[in-house]
Amino acid sequence: MKLSKRDIILIVLGVVIVAVLWAAPPQTTSRVPFDETHERFYDIARSEGKKAAEVFCADCHNQEMMPLPQDHPPPFRCLFCHKLERK
Ligand code: HEC
Ligand code: HEC
Repeated sequence: MKLSKRDIILIVLGVVIVAVLWAAPPQTTSRVPFDETHERFYDIARSEGKKAAEVFCADCHNQEMMPLPQDHPPPFRCLFCHKLERK
């Protein structure tokens, strides 16, 4: 069997994708602290879902009170990136 150029490209692409996934760093985004401030969101997230809990984040984490870091990605779904602490 002779490999066509296309086959080789597909194989190389496959190897690259596996390598990238393999090398991906473990998740480093800070978790939502489990403290007095955030405890109630754990209950809301559990009973009503993450979307219901996220509504409240911007009450404090906003430009006036607690600006997010300069290079923060678009903060639409907080809990999608900031996981809850494992308990
Ligand atoms: C009542 C105000 C308030 C609300 C509402 C709030 N936070 Fe916070 N958040 C704080 C304060 C104060 C801190 C820093 C002290 C601490 O860790 O509690 C903080 C810290 C954080 C941190 C940083 C932890 C670290 O490692 O530095 C993350 C992430 C975070 N909050 C996410 C969230 C998310 C997601 C929500 C919505 C579910 C939320 N917060 C709602 C006040 C709030
Ligand atoms: C697309 C992913 C993503 C989303 C969505 C997102 N963040 Fe972040 N956030 C990050 C990253 C990455 C950092 C910088 C690394 C770190 O500190 O975790 C960060 C940092 C923070 C910090 C500073 C943490 C620290 O240790 O100083 C706070 C507070 C925070 N985010 C709150 C929020 C809140 C509140 C929302 C929703 C309104 C939100 N984030 C949505 C990815 C995200």
